Amino acid sequence: MYNQLLRLPKAELHLHIEGTLTPERMMSLAERNGMPLRYTSVDDIYAAYEFTDLQSFLDVYFQGMQVLKTAQDFEDLAMDYFELAHSEGVVHIELHVDPQAHLARGIALETVIEGLNRARSRAQRELDLSSAMILAFLRDRPAEEAAELLESTIPYLEHFAAVGLDSAELGHPPSKFRQVFARAAELGLARVAHAGEEGPPAYIYEALDILDVERIDHGVRCMEDPALVERLRDERRVLTVCPLSNVRLKVVERMEDHPLPAMLDAGLMLTLNSDDPSYFGGGLLDNYLACHQAFGWDMVVFKKLARNALNAAFMSEARREALLARMDALSV
Ligand code: ADE
Ligand code: ZN
Repeated sequence: MYNQLLRLPKAELHLHIEGTLTPERMMSLAERNGMPLRYTSVDDIYAAYEFTDLQSFLDVYFQGMQVLKTAQDFEDLAMDYFELAHSEGVVHIELHVDPQAHLARGIALETVIEGLNRARSRAQRELDLSSAMILAFLRDRPAEEAAELLESTIPYLEHFAAVGLDSAELGHPPSKFRQVFARAAELGLARVAHAGEEGPPAYIYEALDILDVERIDHGVRCMEDPALVERLRDERRVLTVCPLSNVRLKVVERMEDHPLPAMLDAGLMLTLNSDDPSYFGGGLLDNYLACHQAFGWDMVVFKKLARNALNAAFMSEARREALLARMDALSV
């Protein structure tokens, strides 16, 4: 099964690039940038990765990314992950980027974009790994700040496929960002939003009805509302589910308790994703393997999920067709 899952051309639609920062890279960047680190070793860093909920993770995540200063740092960060993903049979990655977290530390938007774009070009050229960027708004910051970010991103708009909504969900419903998402649509950007990770089904309705999103990130709490499940199924809405993340952030107790099998039975359009692989104990292949282990899924299921991801990806039709053909050519 490992080899079959490895060979499957996998696309990852839900990944936070800042969540790919490995402890090793964190230590080397801290040293390169002459910054004191609260951790003294890689083991010390891993020991801090015991989360009780989303917020307890976000505290560590925003702390960790402070070592990112220069365009070279962002290039190294992304290249580390692109190489790992490539070794796991990932062929396309859509990366959420959190510019507000960097702007607040005095890092220019241009620095972030330049570094990430350099890595994206190298990945395309050296690894045949395509990618797209998603401009994420931090939902626990004011909507006005998101609106300002969007306006200041206009000179770089060609580099972004979509806007997204992430960070602390509870108490920050999608409706808070009605105007900024309308503006993003006007600017020709697609929309996605985290909804129903920790937040209630009502947030998923809002993401669909008010933000007009194309995909729902996470969305697992839709299972509490049968009418919503029916709607998501009928409208063939794509959910970017992150199983290892959900276990690590205690959205579910154990992988065996995850609603993924029930979501699949309900006919939902699911994709598997790693969210923040360095913090949650595994990349995309590990998420596929964890599902195989917990649910006993076979290649028929995994091919369907991988095909969903290719169909829902922000990529050229030529690339999509080529990757789908590569998948169809697999013997299983
Ligand atoms: N930012 C990074 N990872 C996140 C997640 N799982 N949920 C919300 N915001 C995030
Ligand atoms: Zn996420």
